[in-house]
Amino acid sequence: MAAILALGIATLDIICSLAAFPPEDAKLRALGRRMVRGGNAANTAVVLSQLGHQCRWAGALARDAEADLVLADFARYGINDGDCCWHEQGATPTSYVWQSQATASRTIVHHRQLAEFSHENFLALDLHGLDWLHFEGRHCEETGKMLATARQHAPGLPLSLEVEKYRPGIEGLFCDPDVTIFSRDYAAYFSLASAPELLAMLALKYGERDRVCTWGEQGAWSRDKDGQLSHAAAVVPPRLVDTLGAGDTFNAGLIDALLAGNTLADACRSACALASRKCAYEGLGFLAEATHAGG
Ligand code: FRU
Repeated sequence: MAAILALGIATLDIICSLAAFPPEDAKLRALGRRMVRGGNAANTAVVLSQLGHQCRWAGALARDAEADLVLADFARYGINDGDCCWHEQGATPTSYVWQSQATASRTIVHHRQLAEFSHENFLALDLHGLDWLHFEGRHCEETGKMLATARQHAPGLPLSLEVEKYRPGIEGLFCDPDVTIFSRDYAAYFSLASAPELLAMLALKYGERDRVCTWGEQGAWSRDKDGQLSHAAAVVPPRLVDTLGAGDTFNAGLIDALLAGNTLADACRSACALASRKCAYEGLGFLAEATHAGG
């Protein structure tokens, strides 16, 4: 069991199930609605906790009813939220998610009106005893300072970074983490048509590091610090129910497998398998559910 701190957003996700994605200006009835805690780093922590790790989450919340729901879910999964930065102003981030039953796609409209977790907040965190520290690639200047502080205060602590999309200045973060996970959306920003192209471009511009790029139904590619490229094929889920949080689950699977001493290429394969398992279940409690169902 490892001690892991995941730093990033926690949200309230309001999810409407629809038979199919609607045309613009349509009026339609949802088949169902559920409200759950979401957020990339928070989701990753919840999955890691089900894999048996001791997880802490750090991020920002407003003092509102949405935050109560977030905290209740953290409590359910044994996530320590004592590092939360509370704001009197603003609102807990909320996502409105349209989930199509036809394709299991999830379309997310995110509302954010809250100060970001800052480097100053980070300085108050206790990094002793941690085995892994995971960041989201957001609020780039502050995150850059946090990565540098983590290196200084806890040399040897493995750092991972998720780059979900392009943000100005994000490339300033690319040399610090031990492993960085890029998305297809980030590659699309540069009009790159494949993960190996993105990984090659990153190696050329920022040097060889351990990097991963996920590519949906095609799986993921890794390129390690020796320049070794490897493909992890996607695992077809037994049934496609819910893809919300599949990327966050991939990140959890990767961290778990790297902590267990696997190579980057093997860790990528485990992460693909875990993300696929998640897609067969609604929500992120799938590991507990799968155990009960014997699946
Ligand atoms: C899924 C997710 C949702 C959240 C949104 C935030 O990856 O974390 O739970 O609402 O993305 O970007």
